[in-house]
Amino acid sequence: MSRALGPEAPAAPPQEPEHAIDEAGGTTAQHAGLSTVDTTVFDGVRDRAAAIIARYPEPRSALLPLLHLVQHVEGHVSRAGIAFCAEALEITTAEVSAVATFYTMYKREPTGRHLVSVCTNTLCAALGGDAIYRAVGERLGGIGHEQTSADGTATLEHAECLAACDLAPVLTVDYEFFDNQTVDSALEIIDALRRGEKPHPTRGAPLTDFRSVELLLAGFYDDPAVGGLEAVAGPSAAPESLAGARLAEERGWTAPAVPDEGENA
Ligand code: FES
Repeated sequence: MSRALGPEAPAAPPQEPEHAIDEAGGTTAQHAGLSTVDTTVFDGVRDRAAAIIARYPEPRSALLPLLHLVQHVEGHVSRAGIAFCAEALEITTAEVSAVATFYTMYKREPTGRHLVSVCTNTLCAALGGDAIYRAVGERLGGIGHEQTSADGTATLEHAECLAACDLAPVLTVDYEFFDNQTVDSALEIIDALRRGEKPHPTRGAPLTDFRSVELLLAGFYDDPAVGGLEAVAGPSAAPESLAGARLAEERGWTAPAVPDEGENA
């Protein structure tokens, strides 16, 4: 997801002087010695980083999964994480920062044990998404967008369409769906998370936690750390989403043939 401006989104990204792009195309930090940033926190995943990079003909193509690996380790993309990616891919910290600050899935502040995303886009909002977002924020201690509860249970964010409009209003926890929510059902989920439980998503894989999911997103689907393939398998399509296809099949409907170029000439 790219960053979308919502009612609580900052007008501009927070200034990080240590990452300001300088005239040489690098960053002030890089030229002032970012290479001296301590990246030993990533020593335990250097093999995994090498495996990610080996998937691609060009090392720089590995940046997105590498940033997820960084979040698996630290729960966000820290200054050390930016330096780690830049070193591993032999690109500038400015290039890493530009990508990490563009996509909403890369977090610039430490996340809680879970990431709770409440859809407040049009259809969900009309059906109660705004009320759910407010109630969840209050239950987590009066927090707002991209803020984390004081007990570390969850980071809250409002999301701009989670691509489940036929099941609105929806929220996700660590990117797993809870469909057809109400304020009460959403608060039950939050209370369960605060008790350390892992409520069952409506569909998809069982809940783990944000950092484990980041290992999945880095492409390690069968890693024992996330429970193996069976732990991430699960039905992802809801009957509502397949209703059109089912009706078409029952009634023998097919899409009209697409004329080839010769017929259009
Ligand atoms: S508007 Fe909420 S999932 Fe699309």
